[in-house]
Amino acid sequence: MALLIRNADIVNADSRSKADIWIENETITRIGTGLDAPPGAETIDAAGRMAFPGFIDPHVHVYLPFMSTFAKDTHETGSIAALVGGTTAYIEMVCPSRLDDPLEAYQLWKGKAAGASACDYTFHMAATRFDAHTEGQLTEIVRDGIASFKIFLAYKNFFGVDDGEMYQTLALAKKLGVIVTAHCENAELVCRLQQSLLAQGRTGPEWHEPSRPESVEAEGTARFATFVENTGAAGYVVHLSSKGALDAAMAAKLRGVRLWVESVLPHFLLDKTYAERPGVEGMKHVMSPPLREKRNQKMLWDALARGFVDTVGTDHCPFDTSQKLLGKDAFTQIPNGIPGIEERVSLMYTYGVKHGGLGIDRFVDALSTRAAKLFGLFPRKGTIAVGSDADLVIWDDAHRGKLTAAAQHSNCDYNGFEGMEVEGRPAVVTVRGKVQVRDGKFIGERGRGLLLKREPAYY
Ligand code: URP
Ligand code: ZN
Ligand code: ZN
Repeated sequence: MALLIRNADIVNADSRSKADIWIENETITRIGTGLDAPPGAETIDAAGRMAFPGFIDPHVHVYLPFMSTFAKDTHETGSIAALVGGTTAYIEMVCPSRLDDPLEAYQLWKGKAAGASACDYTFHMAATRFDAHTEGQLTEIVRDGIASFKIFLAYKNFFGVDDGEMYQTLALAKKLGVIVTAHCENAELVCRLQQSLLAQGRTGPEWHEPSRPESVEAEGTARFATFVENTGAAGYVVHLSSKGALDAAMAAKLRGVRLWVESVLPHFLLDKTYAERPGVEGMKHVMSPPLREKRNQKMLWDALARGFVDTVGTDHCPFDTSQKLLGKDAFTQIPNGIPGIEERVSLMYTYGVKHGGLGIDRFVDALSTRAAKLFGLFPRKGTIAVGSDADLVIWDDAHRGKLTAAAQHSNCDYNGFEGMEVEGRPAVVTVRGKVQVRDGKFIGERGRGLLLKREPAYY
């Protein structure tokens, strides 16, 4: 397979240049001007268009048994949604419950993706308890190429770990040289506040946010940072949504703790009034941490522009309307999650780069390069360079559109960003040199995606 992309405006996180990109055997082998294509090679003219390294979503749920049901996507639907939106690799969370066997779960999650994903993928392995077997099991999973763990401080008795288990997971991660990603909310406070609100007859989705207020997230973030500090491990706060949590993370960063911060698409663009909409409309916008007061959005955009928020993921987690209605009598039963894997790149480009003053270099860094570096994928992924995988997004800056559930590829009957305008979308998306998407349509090879094996990094 040979492909020449002519006259691209190559936008990397650390450089910008106009050049041709020559791809052989899935890899970029030359970048230069006036490159010749041998007869028979496929050629794409990218004149006047930006070419980005394939975008990476570091926080995705495809297969997720959660809250008495399952997230709706398969790797077929989720990966096509990702690719149409410009995401060429994602990191899915393997999330066994506390009662499940971690090795069996890992094999189960791997089996669901193998041969099904149209884009490349890897996993964060969740440690949802720590017992006599955990060290051996997690070590085996790291040896198989999974160089990151996940812990939940929230979701008591299901995914959640206690402080002792958090300590043990971080100490093991330090020993193995892998990074620990963490959902940071105080589980006990969430449970108590939920019970108290329900007891007062406050059952609708508008009470989800008050049951997990900003202080609950700030406490979880500060505690995780303190544990990272005292184990010498490397930590990554997922889906940070509010100012107190960012203050806690920044304080830790400033005292030298190896801590990185992810925020996710919904928190940049949606606020808590979406979850206050009547009936199922509000339920569609229930996720955790919850959609916040609007003032947090400016804080997140500013922090992103300055690199205090390192990465932008989605926390893609599609539950359809009938599943959301499981919580019609109590907000605590609404499956938590909003899909977004298809919308992330265009929305962050539109409201960040085009209308928010976000630098194009930081955009590429936050949506691709920094995740590749943190999670052991760089320079194979996350940059347009000789030797890197030919995962490319050639950008159609002239595109204008509106997001709708009817047009989306994720297997969900609603779109959390319904009606929002986008300016720009991928014109061409390649995965290791193969064109998978043109102008919003998947035209590629299903099942092309590979499991990306990653080495420990000893941060
Ligand atoms: O609401 C969310 N975020 N659902 C998915 C599970 C998680 O906490 O990431
Ligand atoms: Zn979470
Ligand atoms: Zn998540």
